[in-house]
Amino acid sequence: MARTALVTGGSRGIGAAISKALKAEGYNVAATYAGNDEAAAAFTAETGIKTYKWNVASYEESAAGIAKVEADLGPIDVVVANAGITKDAPFHKMTPEQWQQVIDTNLTGVFNTVHPVWPGMRERKFGRVIVISSVNGQKGQFAQVNYAATKAGDIGIVRSLAQEGARAGITANAVCPGYIATEMVMAVPEKVRESIIAQIPAGRLGEPEEIARCVVFLASDDAQFINGSTISANGAQFFG
Ligand code: CAA
Repeated sequence: MARTALVTGGSRGIGAAISKALKAEGYNVAATYAGNDEAAAAFTAETGIKTYKWNVASYEESAAGIAKVEADLGPIDVVVANAGITKDAPFHKMTPEQWQQVIDTNLTGVFNTVHPVWPGMRERKFGRVIVISSVNGQKGQFAQVNYAATKAGDIGIVRSLAQEGARAGITANAVCPGYIATEMVMAVPEKVRESIIAQIPAGRLGEPEEIARCVVFLASDDAQFINGSTISANGAQFFG
């Protein structure tokens, strides 16, 4: 029987590529989005993938949304915590609101997304938790104290979940994309973006599909012994 996958932030950017790639592999896919109704409707029209609207920063909304997805599509076997935002500012200019919004969405959002599906995965003795982190969680980034903190936090989350889930057939892994050609990266001022690309040994931005393929592999039965790991897909950006 086809497995069911939930992808948060799954109608745009990297998330859309993940939703499509999982569907192509035969999963029943549910994609969530936070606000852009138009993009979500266009995504469903293009792909046939059902979208659900909720704010991952809210535990209540996430739990209710996940219950609806499971009623529609069946128990969630694969959860991809992808939804994320940036509120970039040099630290001396970063406001408490910019800090909190990014923590609530990117970090608490992972808790809110995984926690409601975890008991079912434990009961059924199978699960795949895949969290979309970032190269900037590994190396830090100018103007991203908030974002980098959440993306480094993702790595701690999957390493801990991996230890808790291993004997229940659940794996938890992170994918750390480098700079990928999405609206998020295109929002960086052009000059800054050019200087970033100049620092990528591959000499280009990544494509969303290059991240989606990592997710498909981690979701597969072949990846059962890969647990608590991080796949870096960044065109050889060095950190360390
Ligand atoms: N490294 C070093 N210095 C930098 C810098 C960098 N990466 N980026 C900017 N600066 C410098 C500028 O040159 C400028 O210096 P001067 O004052 O000497 O000219 C100063 O920092 C910027 O000061 P401003 O007061 O003008 O800054 P600002 O308040 O206008 O903020 C900014 C500008 C928000 C930092 C903007 O430059 C920016 O968006 N930078 C990109 C940050 C970034 O890389 N974000 C990643 C987004 S993509 C993503 O997050 C996806 C992923 O996971 C990879």
